Amino acid sequence: MSPGPAIVERLRGHRVLVIGDVMIDEYLRGDVHRVSPEAPVPVLDLRSTEHRLGGAANTAHNLARLGAATTLVGVVGDDDGARVLAVALERAGIAARTAVDRERPTTRKTRVVSGGHQIVRIDAERRTAVAGAVFDALVATIDDAVDTADAVVLSDYAKGVVTRPLAARAIAACRRRGVPVVVDPKQRDFATYAGATVITPNLHELEHAVGHAAHELAEIDAGAATLARIIDGAALLVTRGADGMTLYQDGVRGHHVPAAAREVFDVTGAGDTVVATLTLALAARLPLPEAMELASLAAGIAVSRRGTSTVAPDELAAAIAAGRPI
Ligand SMILES: Nc1ncnc2c1ncn2[C@@H]1O[C@H](COP(=O)(O)OP(=O)(O)OP(=O)(O)O)[C@@H](O)[C@H]1O
Ligand SMILES: [Mg+2]
Repeated sequence: MSPGPAIVERLRGHRVLVIGDVMIDEYLRGDVHRVSPEAPVPVLDLRSTEHRLGGAANTAHNLARLGAATTLVGVVGDDDGARVLAVALERAGIAARTAVDRERPTTRKTRVVSGGHQIVRIDAERRTAVAGAVFDALVATIDDAVDTADAVVLSDYAKGVVTRPLAARAIAACRRRGVPVVVDPKQRDFATYAGATVITPNLHELEHAVGHAAHELAEIDAGAATLARIIDGAALLVTRGADGMTLYQDGVRGHHVPAAAREVFDVTGAGDTVVATLTLALAARLPLPEAMELASLAAGIAVSRRGTSTVAPDELAAAIAAGRPI
């Protein structure tokens, strides 16, 4: 295996295309001092509004932060959310190639927070499959963008972008060009992702796909064997939270990486960090086991922090230097 932190330099500058369900994570923070005279609900005195890149846009954010030349393909509405997203993407250095669907809002998850507690979450979204002219626009963009990509991510949050025909088209385009394609899955039917390079379910997604519990290793093994029949040679990388991540090829268990975290503060978004790091390592033509080791180290950094879950190259290099050789 490659020696030490220098490997991180090899990640820089590769071109990664992220296709998927983009979202805005919105935080409305303030104080509650009284109950509304209109209804028995608290009144929030709004102090601050924060927008973060979510869903596929968070995966893209992780890639950009790691030094990838990142392009994002997805769908937005014809609304204020689309403008908020465009500003945030530009700030993060991500090239946006979004299609506008007038029939749906830009997906937005709004958390109203007071005193460190969420009072309510408001979801603006429509989860219908993208079709018609918007589908055609997405496919045209993908056909064009895959041509200049070193790796591709399908970031599926089951909001309608990653349909079976769209995934098939994107995966076929990648295969023709020998471009690795990594899938972050959310649908029950993994046949949608057949022919990808790697599919990265967490335990819950694996259970959903196979219809039985997948907690014990034997159950995960059985699930991977079942899925091997429908994913056309794709490797399966099962992310197992505190138990790390395990690779399967043709249903056979292979490389395992234990979780790298020493402290855990906030595990949200760790999966996106894994997918981003893994994909960038594959873009740099590192072998899958090495890509996994890097992804695990990056996830270990992400979960050890509150708030933003992106990881910088020097942080990854420092983690390698700190003693976990890859
Ligand atoms: N509690 C934890 N302790 C240590 N490492 C963790 C923990 N949770 C997650 N990780 C690291 O992050 C990786 C991905 O986590 P997980 O399997 O929870 O993905 P996920 O459910 O897709 O995450 P997300 O919330 O982003 O969807 C794990 O394989 C592990 O390396
Ligand atoms: Mg996930």
